[in-house]
Amino acid sequence: MCGIFGIVTKDDQPLGPILIEAAKRLTYRGYDSVGAATIRGEKIDLRKDVGRVDDVAAKYDFAEMTGSRGITQLRWATFGEPSQVNSQPHLDSDGDLVGAHNGNVVNNVELRQQFISEGLTVRSQNDGESCVHAVERYINKGYDFIDAIRLAYGDLAGDYAFVIGRVSDDKLYAIKKGSGLVVGLGEGFTCVSSDLPSILPLTRTIIRIQDGEIITLWAGRVELRSVKDGSVILRDPETVTETMDAVQKGGYPHFMLKEIHEQAQVAREVLHMLEGSSEVRTVLEKMRAARHLYFIGCGTSYHACLAGAVYFAQIAGRAAIPVLAPQFVPQYAPAVNHEDVGMFVSQSGETKDVLNALQIANAKGMTSFGLANVIGSTLTKATAGWLPLCCGYEISVPATKTFTNQVIAFLYMATRMAGHDTHQLEQIPELMEETIAAVAPQVEAIAAEINKWNDLYTLGYGTTYPIALEGALKLKEITYAHCEGMLSTEFKHGPLSAVSQGYPVIFVAGPEDVPLILSGINEVACRGGHAIAIGEEDARLRANANDVIFIPKSNPYINALLAVLPLQLLSYHMSVARGYDPDFPRNLSKTLTVD
Ligand code: M6R
Repeated sequence: MCGIFGIVTKDDQPLGPILIEAAKRLTYRGYDSVGAATIRGEKIDLRKDVGRVDDVAAKYDFAEMTGSRGITQLRWATFGEPSQVNSQPHLDSDGDLVGAHNGNVVNNVELRQQFISEGLTVRSQNDGESCVHAVERYINKGYDFIDAIRLAYGDLAGDYAFVIGRVSDDKLYAIKKGSGLVVGLGEGFTCVSSDLPSILPLTRTIIRIQDGEIITLWAGRVELRSVKDGSVILRDPETVTETMDAVQKGGYPHFMLKEIHEQAQVAREVLHMLEGSSEVRTVLEKMRAARHLYFIGCGTSYHACLAGAVYFAQIAGRAAIPVLAPQFVPQYAPAVNHEDVGMFVSQSGETKDVLNALQIANAKGMTSFGLANVIGSTLTKATAGWLPLCCGYEISVPATKTFTNQVIAFLYMATRMAGHDTHQLEQIPELMEETIAAVAPQVEAIAAEINKWNDLYTLGYGTTYPIALEGALKLKEITYAHCEGMLSTEFKHGPLSAVSQGYPVIFVAGPEDVPLILSGINEVACRGGHAIAIGEEDARLRANANDVIFIPKSNPYINALLAVLPLQLLSYHMSVARGYDPDFPRNLSKTLTVD
C-alpha cells in the first residue's frame, strides 16, 4: 500500500513541481494523505497532511520547495489513522534523517516500544516512521549508512520498500522487501519509486530492484548492494518503450470511463497474445493432467475466476474450483498436492491475500500459474508461468478492462481445452464496441431514474451469475449504495421481502436462461419493484421487465462478457451523479498489499 518517490539532483533546484507530479501519478496507490520533503544542505523542509495531492500541495505550497534531494509519499492508512502526524515522510529524533515507505511493517507496535525505551522520539503510530528510527538506531551506534540500513532490514518484519536521506549528504538510499521498487536514471538526476508512472515522464531508462537490495542514488549514478552481505550487484539498465498515454485521461472526465472505452482494444491485444503464446499450451497441458483445478483471486478477479469455472465446465467439460484466495488457505490448501494446478488471478499481481495463497500452494507442491496485468509483479515471479492481461495501466480503482480481459483469457483457455476453434472469439472486440455504443444513453437515463435508491440487487444465473456479482461490486464500490449480487433463483428465498414500490432489481439474462429469469422478473414486478433486464433482444424480456437494456446477439459465453459493460457504465453514472469520484472511491486502494 502507499506510493513513494525520491529524486536526487546535482545542485539545489526547485523540486516541488516534480514531487507534485510524481505524487499525482502514484495516487492510484493511496490517497488518504500526502507529504513531501526536500533536503537542502543542512535543512529538511517537510510538509504533509491528510487530503488529496492537489489540495495538500496547494495548502502547503509544495511548488516552492527546493533542494538537491526530494521525497514524496502517498498514504493509504493501515498503521495509524489518516492524520497529519501519521502522514509521511517522517523525520528521525533529531530531524536530520527523513524517509517514507510503502507496504506494511508488521512488527510496528513492538518496534515503537523499543524505540521509545531506547530514548528515540516517536511522534506517530505510523510504520513508515519505524523505518526511519530503525536506521537511526544503528547510525547512533556508529554504523555507516549502508550497514545501518542492512541491520534495519533485519529488524523490520513485513513487506515494504522505503527511501531515506539525511542532511549534509548528496545521496538518497532505498531498500526493497516485498513491495515494488524501480529506479530511474536521467540526465543529471536519478530517482526511485514504487512504480513506473511517476518515473516515465522523467526518464525511460530504469532498473527494476529485487527484494533484498539496497540502492544508493547519487545525481549521476546508482549503486545496488545486497542486504545479505553488502556486496555490489551489477545490473544493466533497461529502456521502457511503453507510451504514457495510458496514464493520461485522454479526454475522458475520469480514468474509469476511459478504461471502460478501452476494453475492446485491450481485448484485441489479449486475444492476439493468447493466440501466439507458447505459455498457453503449457498451462493447458498441465490443467488437462491435473487432479483438481483451482481458480483463485479476490474481488473482481475472483468474479473472473467464477466465470472461468463456468466456461471450463460448460465448454470443456472440465470442473474447476473457483475460490476466494484467503479461503483457499483453510479450505483447500490442506488437501492439495503436486497433482493439482492453480491459476492465480490478479490485476496487480501484488494482492497480499492472493500471494499468501500462492505461497502455500507452492509449498504444497501444487503447480501454480498466474494471470496478471502488471509485468514484473510478485505474482509473475512466484508462479511456474503466467499470462499477461495486456491491459496497460489500469489507474481507476474499480477494475474494468482487466476484468473483461481476465474473462476473455478464461474463455479462450476453455475453448482451446475443448478443442474448439478460437477464431470465433475474434468477434468479441467489435461486439464490445457495439455494446457500449448501443447501451450508453439508455444506461445513463436508468442511472438517473434509480439513483435515489441506496439499496438494490443484481441477479444472474449460470454464465451471468459472476456478472451479477461483478456488477454489484462495481455499484457498491463507487456509489457507496448497498448492492447485493446473487443467483436469481435464490432471490425468492429471502431477499424478495425487500421489494417495495419502485425498488430496483437488475436481472442479467443469458439467452438460454430467459424463461427462468422471467419468473424472477415477474416476482419483482408484481410486487411493485422496478425490474431492469440486461440481455439480448427478446420479446419476452420486453413484455415483462420495466426496463430492458439490449446487448448485441452473440452466444451465451460472449453474452455474459458483454453484459458487464452496461453494469460498469451504470455504476459509473450513478457515482458521478452522486458527486463522487469513481476513480478513487473512499476507503479503498487499487493495490491491496495487506492481510
Ligand atoms: O489486483 P487484484 O486483481 O488482485 O485486486 C483484487 C481486488 O482488490 C480488486 O479486484 C477489487 O475488488 C477491485 N477494485 C474491484 O473493482
